[in-house]
Amino acid sequence: LPENERQLLKLYDEATKFYHHLLINTEIGDTALQYLYQRGVDDATIDAFMLGYAPTDDVLLKYVTEKKYDYQLLRESELFIEWDDGSLHDRFTDRVLFTIRNQTGAPIAFSGRRLSNDADVAKYMNSPESILFNKSNELFNLDLAKNDISKSKTVILFEGFMDVIAAFQAGIRNGVASMGTSLTQDQVQRLNRIAQKINITYDSDNAGQAATQRALELIGRFSQMKAQVIHIPDTQDPDEFLRSQGVEAFQNVLQHNTEDPIAFNLRYLKGNYDLNNQVEIFSYIREILPIIASVNEPVVRQTYLQKLASEFNLNYDGLNEQLQPLLLTKI
Ligand code: GTP
Ligand code: MN
Ligand code: MN
Ligand code: MN
Ligand code: MN
Repeated sequence: LPENERQLLKLYDEATKFYHHLLINTEIGDTALQYLYQRGVDDATIDAFMLGYAPTDDVLLKYVTEKKYDYQLLRESELFIEWDDGSLHDRFTDRVLFTIRNQTGAPIAFSGRRLSNDADVAKYMNSPESILFNKSNELFNLDLAKNDISKSKTVILFEGFMDVIAAFQAGIRNGVASMGTSLTQDQVQRLNRIAQKINITYDSDNAGQAATQRALELIGRFSQMKAQVIHIPDTQDPDEFLRSQGVEAFQNVLQHNTEDPIAFNLRYLKGNYDLNNQVEIFSYIREILPIIASVNEPVVRQTYLQKLASEFNLNYDGLNEQLQPLLLTKI
């Protein structure tokens, strides 16, 4: 490893321990600690994830300055922002910190959550990319989840840090999250090396469903993994569902509230059409027939066609006739 990378890893390690110490042992971190308790996160989980608290007043800068880190290294770390006068200041202020670790478990970045509900402040703030942190490459919690993924050959893909953490605390330890942005090709290929199945368990709101569609497309294109969509009831996210319904109910959802990619797309795309209108029904059909045509097994295709025919009161043979040319043009 190049010397400055080693130094940066050391700096991140110390910053993580410092922020963690402030959270669990000091008066200044108490509001943040209570915030986590109130969200149901227990002490063991706070330790396992090395959660932290970043206060105000440049306390990290003061701490690492005493440790005689090189100024250029501090700049490269992205732990600080640089003012026009060239002075450095703590990037994260008054935020709960989620530590982002690389595959070997070393801290390489943070995501900070605001404590208040103040909509003027961004809910999450992430470290920018740095020498250590390539956003599109990392997956939150992959280091801790790797064993459970390899053993079960299954990975659960969540949207948020808190979803991964709540699941972990409930004993479901094969969960990861992409880094706040949408899933990338690199992340998919990385998971493809250790998993055969991927369960997409995003939020059930519109943003989560749109992200699910994009994730399915990417997984289909860049991996051999068998994808399933897990649908969380009542427009909750997995963390909220776990908190309100408990582990058993959540396990039940993971097992039974599943859709294969085709079923997900057929349901999701319906949302784009007014299905009381015959013209729009035909538009919907035109959009989904290529998806049905993409299914290789004839009996599965026919099952979808039959469902479609009965749902919209259409003639099966007509639908099937319309599907045929799509099958021929398939590569
Ligand atoms: P909680 O409210 O803490 O439970 O967060 P959440 O994970 O449920 O957030 P949400 O579903 O709104 O968003 C999912 C993920 O998107 C989060 O875990 C973040 O990684 C990311 N995200 C959400 N809000 C922001 C934001 O304001 N800025 C950035 N950069 N990322 C965000
Ligand atoms: Mn600070
Ligand atoms: Mn969301
Ligand atoms: Mn949430
Ligand atoms: Mn959420």
